[in-house]
Amino acid sequence: MPDLPTSPGKNPYLLGNFAPVERECDASDLQVIGELPTDFAGVFVRTGANPVYRPKGRYHWFDGDGMIHALTIGGGQATYRNRLVQTRGLAVEREAGEAVYAGLLERPNPKLPGGPFKNTGNTDIVYHAGQLLALWWMGGDVYALSLPDLNTMGIQDYRGKLRRGMTAHPKIDPRSGQMVFIDYGPRPPFLTVGSVDATGELEYQVAVDLPGPSLQHDLAITENFAVLIDPAMRVDRSRPGTGHEKVVFERDQPTRFGLVSRTAPKRGATPDERADVTWFAAKPCYMYHTINAWEQGDEVVLVGCRIADPLAGDPNIRADAPKVPTLAHLRIEPYLYRWVLNRKTGQVSEGRLDDTLTEFPRINDRYLGARSRYSYNPRVQAGNTLLFDGFVKYDLERGASESHVYTQGWHGGEVVFAPRDGATAEDDGYLLSYVSEFASGRSEVHVFDAKRPADGPIARVVLPQRVPEGFHAEWVPATTAAFSRPL
Ligand SMILES: [Fe+2]
Repeated sequence: MPDLPTSPGKNPYLLGNFAPVERECDASDLQVIGELPTDFAGVFVRTGANPVYRPKGRYHWFDGDGMIHALTIGGGQATYRNRLVQTRGLAVEREAGEAVYAGLLERPNPKLPGGPFKNTGNTDIVYHAGQLLALWWMGGDVYALSLPDLNTMGIQDYRGKLRRGMTAHPKIDPRSGQMVFIDYGPRPPFLTVGSVDATGELEYQVAVDLPGPSLQHDLAITENFAVLIDPAMRVDRSRPGTGHEKVVFERDQPTRFGLVSRTAPKRGATPDERADVTWFAAKPCYMYHTINAWEQGDEVVLVGCRIADPLAGDPNIRADAPKVPTLAHLRIEPYLYRWVLNRKTGQVSEGRLDDTLTEFPRINDRYLGARSRYSYNPRVQAGNTLLFDGFVKYDLERGASESHVYTQGWHGGEVVFAPRDGATAEDDGYLLSYVSEFASGRSEVHVFDAKRPADGPIARVVLPQRVPEGFHAEWVPATTAAFSRPL
């Protein structure tokens, strides 16, 4: 591996608009350039890494403490608020007055509370059963926050029933309200799948048989199944048990997709019980994020952003591979891709759908698990660090797309769909993204007509402070946010 500029001060993921902000603030009556539509209302939340203390050793972008930015929109006006996720690890560091936990690139200390790494809750933010849930990509504890104040209420353990934690990217069935999630780790069972019902009751969490630990990140749901991923990015089995195992890309092994009935595990089933999984072998790859999955007859269709060569410095990367952004050892070359899993034959057909580099894809969440037509994918800018210089609206039915490119020097984040009041069409609503000028830190939320994003933003909400580049976002409609539940 090449030397990486990961020490504080030289780390590109601590510079420019990757740098953290220090202030938690509230601001109302924000300036709007253009006009905010009055036919939608809700809270646009986004999380990201915002290290409070100077990193201990080398820093990885995934290490920073979770910070939530929230823009509340209603009646054509907007207010802003940002708050840290008050995690157990951050409390330990506040007590010490400095960073205590090592990051991903350093040797971890398993003796630290919740260790070996600090669960920052910085990766994903979803609203389920009356609570905003801050989730971490490595899994573990779930932090529940309240709206509108973004107060961290504490750890949501589902009355002690959550035995193995929860990773980022649970999927909420828009029809039943069931939330399906995974958790993974270095010790058996290496993967679990679970569900929480619409009222916030944990239904089950059962083990999934894997040959060894793999680098998990996402899942998908269909009407009847959870679609699990056993990617060819696995922990190096030649050096187990060190506590800091290396991840390798097994390019001679398949990436597998596993179908599990979402309703088959009985209520109360625990990780001592095993899920019944049907596996399908596909070409080796890695995928951070799925877009959607659905059933059509005997087939399950899965779309996502696939990476064929996911490790930087891998000597086996094909000769014609482009130079793309990296995140330490992770190489970001994702393309829109579709797999079709045939449940009758067990065969997989697969193929790339576009040659544009895109990631952090989202759809209209009302279509999650059902056939969907549109996907909104931020476009990866050429360069060393992961920045999005625009986004693409894909039409999967017609095989068409349209794009919006931000002003030179400005970048956006995940693009989230917010339905218009009374919407019936899939793209009848608005697209929202936090957008910043990298050098100056000027930050805005841009609002687009989802039917015509290439026309540019219909409204730009000027934010009172810089919003650093971040991770995942969520639209919580005002009617949903009104249903809040204490811990
Ligand atoms: Fe993610």
